[in-house]
Amino acid sequence: MLGYGGHILSNVLMVRHLQQTALETVRALANAIDAKDNYTHGHSERVGWLARMVGQALGMPNRQLQILEWAGLLHDVGKIGIPERILNKPGRLTTEEFDEMKRHPRLSYEVLRPVASLAPVLEGVLYHHENHDGSGYPTGLAGDAIPLIARIIHVVDIFDALTSSRSYRKGFTIARAFEILRTDSGRVTDPLVTERFLTAFERYRAERPADFLERFAHIAAEADPLPEDEEARRGR
Ligand SMILES: [Fe+2]
Repeated sequence: MLGYGGHILSNVLMVRHLQQTALETVRALANAIDAKDNYTHGHSERVGWLARMVGQALGMPNRQLQILEWAGLLHDVGKIGIPERILNKPGRLTTEEFDEMKRHPRLSYEVLRPVASLAPVLEGVLYHHENHDGSGYPTGLAGDAIPLIARIIHVVDIFDALTSSRSYRKGFTIARAFEILRTDSGRVTDPLVTERFLTAFERYRAERPADFLERFAHIAAEADPLPEDEEARRGR
């Protein structure tokens, strides 16, 4: 028989159970897209994890960190509506194919919009390809008009795209990816967020080497990439 304390305890357990179920559902959605787009294997998980790391470096509260992680996990879920011949095309996309690809942030937004509890992640998802100078998509927002959550996802998404291998090229080394991020900072990505990411990632790598090796085992240790790849820079 449960007393008053027992009821509170069972409610706490129930809430925890619901939170766990929600997280598992979010992960399942993220895995669905990672399975369809063979270059993004593990990409959504890493973007969610890295986005949380940057949020922590920026001193964001726990609630915001969870939103960041979920937005990172779900940012590309709209790719489910993009044909596989485009998603997995080896090599460059034609202008028409790239226009089709550019639909995915809005598709992600539309897929997630009916889920009331995911409302806080929507702007992160919709604007994750907006550039600092206004040259991104889908709306061309610039600078601080781009929600912070989206600016964070944009940086870590590009880092993960650069360091992931494609069918037609090896991933860049971390050093090269950092160089590209620095060069494009202020044009493609928010300068402050970019700097915080670079510092936080270096620190993580130095302080938790075993975790780093496990989580980022796919990253090439040696420099051997082909000449720069514009699509990787854009994070597709
Ligand atoms: Fe994307």
